[in-house]
Amino acid sequence: MNLPVKTFRLAILISGRGSNMSALIDAAQSGKIPQAEVALVISDQPSAAGLQEANKCAIETLVIERRGRAREEHDKEIVAALRERQIDLVCLAGYMRILSRAFIAAYRGRILNIHPSLLPSFTGLDAQRQALKHGVKVAGCTVHLVDENLDGGPIIGQRVVPVREDDTVETLSARILEQEHKLYPEAVATVLARTQITQAANS
Ligand code: GRF
Repeated sequence: MNLPVKTFRLAILISGRGSNMSALIDAAQSGKIPQAEVALVISDQPSAAGLQEANKCAIETLVIERRGRAREEHDKEIVAALRERQIDLVCLAGYMRILSRAFIAAYRGRILNIHPSLLPSFTGLDAQRQALKHGVKVAGCTVHLVDENLDGGPIIGQRVVPVREDDTVETLSARILEQEHKLYPEAVATVLARTQITQAANS
């Protein structure tokens, strides 16, 4: 008997440009992430350029601003929006806020982040600048599961780029970003394939 194949509902959280968000939307819409649908984009910034892009793709968008509230309150509203829409997987894509423990617990094992370094090196802000400062010869990007440690959850995938002698933060960031756009859809597909297998085994 063939088991029904589930379509996973993805939400993407952004704060700005949204180029990784666009890469995920393109990949889901073109079948490169099988069984995935980007169902929601949430931004904490009303001016995030990515919101317009998501609208162009006819994806529901929400702006949930922090508005001086505590992290827990803000995250509570986001988790409620995710649950209301039966979101299966949350992808952080340039989302510039640290998640509360309650948010992580509500979606444990189902929140991914992309970071522009080869973790565990260079966590936090300005990863590309940190890499240049240390004189590393290779850099790259990482997709990992989000847990309570900053940029510290289990790694799903990485891509490596060379660092050139004359690199600036801008040139290195651009080289890494090109790889981010390939890595993130691959990593989402990997996670969903595992989930599909686990669900089939448990049904
Ligand atoms: C990317 O470099 C990502 O790795 C980091 O923030 C940047 C977001 O870029 N977390 P974009 O908004 O996806 O274009």
